[in-house]
Amino acid sequence: MNRHFSKISKLFQLGTVLGKNRVAQFVKPKTATVAFGSLFTLFCLKNNMDSKIFTLEDLRDVETINASDIQDGEMKSFEVGPTKDDVILLYKYDGKYYATAAKCPHSAANLEKGVLFDDKIVCPWHDAAFSIVTGKPEQGPVFDNLPTFPVKEVNGKLVVQIPRVLPKSVEPTLSKRFVADFKKFVILGSGPAALSAVETLRRSNFKGEIIVITKEDELPYDRTVLSKNIFGAELEKITLKDPSFFEKCEVTVLKNTNVKYINIDRNLIEIEGESEKIKYDKLLIATGARPKVPPVSGTGLNNVLTLRSYKDMEQIKEAAKKAKKIVIVGASFIGMEVAANIKKELKDEVEVTVVDQIKTPFSRVLGDDVGKAIMDLHEKNGVKFNLEKRLKNIEGAGDVKSIVLDDNSHVDADLVILGTGVRPNVDLVSNSLRIADDGGIYTDVFLKSSVESIFAAGDVASYPYWYTGNRVRVEHYNEAIQQGQIAAYNMIGKRIPHTSIPFFWSRQYDMSFRFVGYSGDFDNIHIDGSPSAMNFIAYYAKENKIVAAASVGRDPATMVVGQAMESNLMPSMEELKSGQVTLEDIQARIKSKKGCSKCKRNAYENKPNWNPPR
Ligand SMILES: Cc1cc2nc3c(=O)[nH]c(=O)nc-3n(C[C@H](O)[C@H](O)[C@H](O)COP(=O)(O)OP(=O)(O)OC[C@H]3O[C@@H](n4cnc5c(N)ncnc54)[C@H](O)[C@@H]3O)c2cc1C
Ligand code: FES
Repeated sequence: MNRHFSKISKLFQLGTVLGKNRVAQFVKPKTATVAFGSLFTLFCLKNNMDSKIFTLEDLRDVETINASDIQDGEMKSFEVGPTKDDVILLYKYDGKYYATAAKCPHSAANLEKGVLFDDKIVCPWHDAAFSIVTGKPEQGPVFDNLPTFPVKEVNGKLVVQIPRVLPKSVEPTLSKRFVADFKKFVILGSGPAALSAVETLRRSNFKGEIIVITKEDELPYDRTVLSKNIFGAELEKITLKDPSFFEKCEVTVLKNTNVKYINIDRNLIEIEGESEKIKYDKLLIATGARPKVPPVSGTGLNNVLTLRSYKDMEQIKEAAKKAKKIVIVGASFIGMEVAANIKKELKDEVEVTVVDQIKTPFSRVLGDDVGKAIMDLHEKNGVKFNLEKRLKNIEGAGDVKSIVLDDNSHVDADLVILGTGVRPNVDLVSNSLRIADDGGIYTDVFLKSSVESIFAAGDVASYPYWYTGNRVRVEHYNEAIQQGQIAAYNMIGKRIPHTSIPFFWSRQYDMSFRFVGYSGDFDNIHIDGSPSAMNFIAYYAKENKIVAAASVGRDPATMVVGQAMESNLMPSMEELKSGQVTLEDIQARIKSKKGCSKCKRNAYENKPNWNPPR
């Protein structure tokens, strides 16, 4: 009781001061302070904002730069102390001043090294983007908001009100269930697409029931770390949201739960071992993908492993520590990241060999020059390659002993990791929903499946890609989050098409690799810089249209290309190759077309529902 009273009193106190500062100029000061204080308290309590409210003692006013020292479209950093890491960013946009934290809530990249487009700050590492006005994430591997701080101009100086301890991120305001709202949405899967959908529904004031059903016994976690930090990743640290998040927004998560059957005619889900069926109004399928296992003998032997889940990673970690000869089948991103991570950690204690039927790793998606440079990097670190040979079978007795290739050569192995691609998890609906040629659930541009009440998002969804007109299924983390958002908007009838440009990253040794777009069957490559020196940007084109770009050591180059593609401002391959247009020109083009890169999330969240679900 006392705790509640103190919370209410703190909120009222803060509300009255805000009222005094912000509202009293329009009405009588006393009326403003009391009325605003009361309304503010009720608003915060109703919207569950009380946990993040700073008390007055927590806040301080910091005088920063001269207002005249920052031009429209610019950002400036300012050290607010007490340590040199306590930095904020100031911006001027459309004649107004804004301030945010300077570190990205994802992995703490310095946002000043990113790019500012309109009211959007884009992170230079993994393409997160935030509104400088609301702090809301527009895209990227993030769920929480970037902290924003109020700025006022006092005697020509910008004064920013900041908490004494700078927050790293801010949990958004999420709605809760309203008992009289009988809509029921079910989300199948608990990866980033699923979490993003949950979060977007609650951000968009959806107050119906949400049930998440997942096979895993973990809450959503960051899978991307599993191949990059096998020996250091801890489940607790990579878990994206702890149980309190789901409790707070009143979302039921059914872990370790297997769905037996989805009756799409009656909107019913049957759970294994349960007699009661779950009835849904809308269903989101976000079941991701699972590793493909090549159809050869011996894949069931001990120490023949795949990597998709945290448990898979733990198995690989334990087996790798004891292994002497590790063979990785498949020079895929996951295979190569695993090779790099094991070699970096265990060095000469293990022999690591990558086997693949292709001549140069990544040549199909990145071209020979970039692929060769990455392969050289691995060779320099001691990884061996056995290429242009197919896996014929795996041999052993109980434990794996070797793999056999199609030229009948043997490669000894006491651990085999299959990095041979993934297949979408569509089994539950493969006979009831339309399945695309790429194996994913066929959706329209709103991520709606062939059945009105069912949506799909993430690795499992095959959708029409607006930029090229081709149907694609993308296996990227950021894309899963983006699609989770779009599917959620459309489940509540907002009619928002999916129009983002895919983005992917990889880390192998000290190489941080970025990729934007979808290269598909590109017919032309232009490389600016040197792949062998690990400093380049490569552009990929199909019929003179740039469809993708990859970069190493050039951050935030791919973020600029991504925005140019999204805003339809990308020059042709001819213009880039001839040097008529440079990356700087592309950035200037975007900046000069004011409004083309403006944040959309706030508008999406507040867009009225076009077709409210019954
Ligand atoms: C090791 C590794 C490293 C990666 N690194 C990167 C990277 O660096 N950058 C990048 O962009 N992408 C990376 N990816 C890809 C990225 O992680 C995926 O694209 C992303 O996780 C897809 O999200 P999703 O929500 O669609 O599916 P998933 O993350 O696969 O989640 C699907 C969930 O559904 C559950 N599920 C499946 N079937 C059922 C069912 N029948 N019933 C209930 N639940 C079910 C699964 O158990 C899982 O919890 C990596 C992937 C892996 C495995
Ligand atoms: S650090 Fe910013 S997106 Fe990862």
